Amino acid sequence: MKITAKSIRDKKSKGEKVTALTAYDFTLAKILDEAGLDIILVGDSLGMVLLGYDSTVPVTMRDMLHHTKAVGAAVRNALVVADMPFGSYDTPERALRSARRFLQEAKADAVKVEGGRRIEEQVKMLIQSGIPVMGHLGMTPQTASSLGGYHVQGKEAEQAEEIFEDAKRLDQLGVFSIVLECVPSALADRITREVKCPTVGIGAGPKTDGQVLVLHDMLGFEGKVSPKFVRKYADLGQVIRKAVTGYRDDVLKGKFPSEKESYH
Ligand code: KIV
Repeated sequence: MKITAKSIRDKKSKGEKVTALTAYDFTLAKILDEAGLDIILVGDSLGMVLLGYDSTVPVTMRDMLHHTKAVGAAVRNALVVADMPFGSYDTPERALRSARRFLQEAKADAVKVEGGRRIEEQVKMLIQSGIPVMGHLGMTPQTASSLGGYHVQGKEAEQAEEIFEDAKRLDQLGVFSIVLECVPSALADRITREVKCPTVGIGAGPKTDGQVLVLHDMLGFEGKVSPKFVRKYADLGQVIRKAVTGYRDDVLKGKFPSEKESYH
């Protein structure tokens, strides 16, 4: 059954966890959907994971639409959330224009934006226009430079209070969930208890209402960074390296293709 933003929101009152992973292409999105994930996030992390950028800042609407279309074509049940890239929601009007493109052109069900009270007019505009919004607080990669890099946020009391107030405001505005990235467990726990919408943690400890990871990290592809919160559920980097080496050796030795693998 198709998962909606409302059904994600309702999970909190039912005490059900929210499961989410990123995907950027048809093949992997289909596997995630068939595995029963609640949310498939087309994260702008694709800039670093797929395109080799040093940050998510260079990722464009064109990049995001291209990959969201591929994911949208594969997914039957999960909620497809498209990450609004840097610069695509500077003003409420621009936010609405960009978000509509994800829903109309790429079959996304919702969008994700980074920031709290700083972007509240944009969030308001989207929600009033009927577009489900997922918030993202803590270590927000699009502004990592002004946050001093990819570090845990909210260790100091003052900053923790800012993140807490941002979460409460997003919740009041009606976001259907909030990603909490790289914040101390105690802060994530406090926010989770205080807001009505589910929190989805990444590097935010076990007390959030759900978890999200970057798919390629948890599958064991070597990324540019390897944060301690990533649990590796597979070592696909190694598996692929072995397969490709085997293929290369077979071709070099004339062992591939065999007679059975040839037409007669
Ligand atoms: O871009 C992304 O993949 C994300 C997740 C890390 C939450 O925003």
